[in-house]
Amino acid sequence: MTTKAKTSDHRIDHFFSMPAARADRWRDIVGASRAWSSGRSDKATVEAAFAELGPIEEFHAFPGPGLMGALREKLQGDNAVGFTELVRRVSAAIVTRDFKYDAAEWGTADEVADSPADVLPPTLGGREARRPYFEMLMVAPGATTHAVYQIAEMRKLRRPEDAFIYEMVAVESFEDAICAAIINPYIAAVTIFEGFTYTSRHPAPVLRSVLANLVPEEARREDADLSLLLANSLKRLRPELDVYLLSDRRVESLAGDPRAASIRRVLYAIEEPLELHLSVLEGIQRRFETPFFDNLKKYARRPISTFHALPIARGKSVFKSDWIRDMGEFYGINLFLAESSATTGGLDSLLEPTGNIKRSQEMAARAFGADHAFFVTNGTSTSNKMVHQAIVAPGDIVILDRNCHKSHHYGLVLAGGQPLYVDAFPMTEYSMYGAVPLASVKKALLDLKAEGRLDRVKMVDLTNCTFDGHIYNTRRVMEECLAIKPDLVFLWDEAWFGFARFSPILRPRTAMGAASAIGAWIHDPASIKAYEKQQDELGSDPSADKLLATRLIPDPRKVRVRVYQTHSTHKSMSALRQGSMVLVKDVDFHTVESQFHEAVFTHASTSPNQQLIGSLDVARRQMELEGYGLVLNAIEISLSIRREINSHPLISKYFKVLGADGMVPAEYRNSGFVDFLAPGTTWAEQVRSMHEDEFCLDPTRMTLVCGTAGFDGTEFKALLANTYDIQLNKTSRNSVLLQSNINNTRSDIAQLLRVLLEICNSIEARLVHGGSGEQDAFAARVKSLMTDVPDLPNFSHFHEAFRQDAGRSTPEGDMRTAFYGAYDAAGCEYVTLHGEECDRRLREGPEMVSANFVIPYPPGFPIMVPGQVITQETIEFMRKLDVKEIHGYEKARGLKLLRPDVISAKSKR
Ligand SMILES: Cc1ncc(COP(=O)(O)O)c(C=O)c1O
Repeated sequence: MTTKAKTSDHRIDHFFSMPAARADRWRDIVGASRAWSSGRSDKATVEAAFAELGPIEEFHAFPGPGLMGALREKLQGDNAVGFTELVRRVSAAIVTRDFKYDAAEWGTADEVADSPADVLPPTLGGREARRPYFEMLMVAPGATTHAVYQIAEMRKLRRPEDAFIYEMVAVESFEDAICAAIINPYIAAVTIFEGFTYTSRHPAPVLRSVLANLVPEEARREDADLSLLLANSLKRLRPELDVYLLSDRRVESLAGDPRAASIRRVLYAIEEPLELHLSVLEGIQRRFETPFFDNLKKYARRPISTFHALPIARGKSVFKSDWIRDMGEFYGINLFLAESSATTGGLDSLLEPTGNIKRSQEMAARAFGADHAFFVTNGTSTSNKMVHQAIVAPGDIVILDRNCHKSHHYGLVLAGGQPLYVDAFPMTEYSMYGAVPLASVKKALLDLKAEGRLDRVKMVDLTNCTFDGHIYNTRRVMEECLAIKPDLVFLWDEAWFGFARFSPILRPRTAMGAASAIGAWIHDPASIKAYEKQQDELGSDPSADKLLATRLIPDPRKVRVRVYQTHSTHKSMSALRQGSMVLVKDVDFHTVESQFHEAVFTHASTSPNQQLIGSLDVARRQMELEGYGLVLNAIEISLSIRREINSHPLISKYFKVLGADGMVPAEYRNSGFVDFLAPGTTWAEQVRSMHEDEFCLDPTRMTLVCGTAGFDGTEFKALLANTYDIQLNKTSRNSVLLQSNINNTRSDIAQLLRVLLEICNSIEARLVHGGSGEQDAFAARVKSLMTDVPDLPNFSHFHEAFRQDAGRSTPEGDMRTAFYGAYDAAGCEYVTLHGEECDRRLREGPEMVSANFVIPYPPGFPIMVPGQVITQETIEFMRKLDVKEIHGYEKARGLKLLRPDVISAKSKR
C-alpha cells in the first residue's frame, strides 16, 4: 500500500496512511494559505488543497462541521488572512491533539469572542482537569439532520463530574461507519440508530472489495437487518468497541436475539438520551478500570507500618540515608510507597489470586480474546516453561521449531517431553531462518501416525511471529494439524506479537484470533458438510502424500480447541520489563487446571514485583482504549521507514529494508502479494495475503541490510548505539532488525534517516578520498558479508543412546536424559573446535554428541542440543561464526561432548 496516498479522487479507503497523511494534508493547506495571504500564490491552490481533505474529515469530530463551514466561508469570502489564521490553528490542534483538552480549539476566533458558550462543547474546558477524551460514532439515517439534534441533546447531558469527555461523529451509511471505525482511532463507542443505508455516497472501491470478505452477502440485500450486521462487523474489526443500538422495534426481543450478542445495550429509541450517555460512560469506565493498579495506588496512600521482610517498602531507609538517597530521588517516592510483600490489605496474591489480581486477569482475558489470562512477572521465558510443565508429561512428544526461544528447549528438559524438531526454511543469504512450513509439521504428524505413535504427541509449539517477523497462518496450521490429531494442544509463542490483537489485519493470524475463528467454525453446520465432502474425495485410506498435498479439514465434531499463547507484554505494550502473560483458550482447561497451577507454583517467584503486576494491568487498559490507534501508528511508521530508506537516492545505495518478497519466498505467498510498498498495492491485497498466504511479514519488524554498506550486524548495531544513541533489536551477519512499536513517533523516523544519511555520506567520502585501495577493500568486505555466508545447519539427529523410546523413522529424542547425563563428569569429554581431533572424529567416529545447548548470539537458537549428533555442517558453521557470545561453549576447552557408552552403561546398572 502506498502511504502517501493520492486522495484527489476523494476516496475514503486509503487506510493505514490515514493519521499521518491527514496531518500532512492540513500542513499543506497551511503552507498554501500562507502563500495566498502574502500574495505569493493564488486562491486556487488553497481551494485544491482544501478539497484534498475530502470526506475523511467527516469521520472525525474535530474540526467538525462548524469549523469546516467557517473555513469554507472564509475561503469563499476571499478572507485570506482569516482563513490562514483559522487553518493554522486547526492544523496545529490536529497535530498536537490539543483539541482533546482545549475548548478554545473548537471555535473560530470570532465566535469565541462573541458567545463561547453556544459554540464550545460544554465540557471541554481549558481550566478543567485533563480528562480522557474519546469519540462516539453515531450511525443514523440522514445523519446530518437527525444526528445534529441527537448530538445537541447528548451534549446537554454532560456534567463536570463525568470521568471522561467525548464528542460525536455522525455518519449515515454502513460503509461510512466501517470507514470511520477504521480511520478514526479516537472512536471508542458506537451508537447505531436504525434506518441507515448500506452504500456510502463517497467512492470506496478498495473498501468494497475488502467488505466482500468481511460482511455477509445478505447485508447488501434490501431487507437486510443492517443494524445487527453492522454491530457484528464493527466488533470483528475492533472487538474493544462498545456498540449501542437505539431501536424503535420491540427492544425486548432484539436484546434476546443471539445475533445481538455484540451489542452492549439495546435501548428504546425514544427513551431519554441520558440512559445512552450514562451507558457510554460506564462502558468506557469498564475498560478504564485497572483493579490491581487502582488498589496499589490506594495502598500507597495509606500510612502503613511494615514488619515484613521488605525494608525498601515505604522508602524510609532510602530517603533518610546519606548514601542511597539518590536512588529515592531518581525513582520517586511512589515506587517505595507501592512496594509491599503483603497479599492482603487491598493487594492480592499473584500465585493464588482471589481479589483484584483475579479481576485484572479476567479483564486481560477479555481484552486479548482468551478464556483465561495469567500474569507472569519473570518474562515469557517463564511463561513458556509454565505451559510446558502444565501440558507435557515425561515421554510426551512435542513438535517444536528448532529455532524457537531457548525457554522451550529448557522447558522440555524440565518436563521430560521429547522434542521432535522441525526446521524453518533457511534464509541463508541473511544468515537467518524463516518459519516452519506447514508441510514439515504435517509430515511429522503423519510419520508418527504411520508408526502408530500419534497418541504420544501432545503439543505443537511454534513462534508467531518469529523474531524477524514471519507470521504463521495460525488458523490453517491448527486446522490441518487437528485434521490429523483432533485433540492436539498448541502453544504459540507470541512474545513479540501481543500487540497484534489490536490490529484487524493481524488479529486473525494471532493464536487467540484463530482459536476463536475455529471455535465458531465448529458450530457452523456447513463445516460438517465440508468435512464429509473432503472425506469422500480422499477415500477410505488416503496416502500420506495425498494428505500432505491436501488442505485438510478437521472433523468439527471431534476437534478440541486447545490453544495457549504466551506474550511478552513488555516487548510490545506498556508493561515494565519482564511483564508477560499466558493466554488460554482451551475447552479442556478444567482437566489441566490443577497441573497448570502447579506449574505456576513451580516457576513463579513467591515475591512478585507489585509494579510489574500493576503495569500489566495498565498495559491492558491502554490497549483496550487506544491500542487500535497506537498499533496503526506503529504500522504507519514502519511503512514510512521502509519507503524512505528504500527510495532515498543515497541511503538506498548502501542500505535496504527487506520487503515481504525478500523475507518470504514466493512459494509461501500464494496470493501473489509482493510487498506493502509495491506499486498499486492496496489494503485489499494485504487483507487477501493475510487471509491466504502461508506466511506473511509483520510490517513493524524491519530487516535492514547493512552488509551492503560494509558493516556486519553486530558492528552496525554498536555504531548506532555508541555514536548515535539509536538502539535496535537483533542482528544477523549482514543485517540488523529495526522494530517500530506503539512508542515511536515521526521524529524517530527523521532521526534514523538523518543518521543513515550521515553514515552514507561518510562512506562516500571515504571511498572517494581513499582511492582504488579503499574501494577494493570495501568491495571485498561487502562480498564477504553478502556472499561468503555460511550455510545454516539444520537439526541433525539425536544419538541412538537417546532414542531408545523413539519411533523407527521419526526423529524425536530423549533430551532430558542427555541433559542430565552431562552432570556426570566421567560421562563427558571435550574436543577443541579447531583441532585435528575434531576432524578425525567427524571422519572416523565415534560420533560426537553434544552435552549441552550451544547457542550463538546471533542467530540466537541452539545449533546443538543435548544428545544431538554433531555433524560436519554444524562444525563448519561454528568455525565460520565470528560472534563473541556463544552460550554453552568454552573456547579454551572446546566442545563439551557426551560419552554415550559411559552414560548407557551407568543407566543399565
Ligand atoms: C520468541 C521468544 N520467546 C520468548 C522470549 C523470552 O521472553 P522474555 O524476554 O519476556 O523472557 C523471547 C525473548 O527474546 C523470544 O524472542
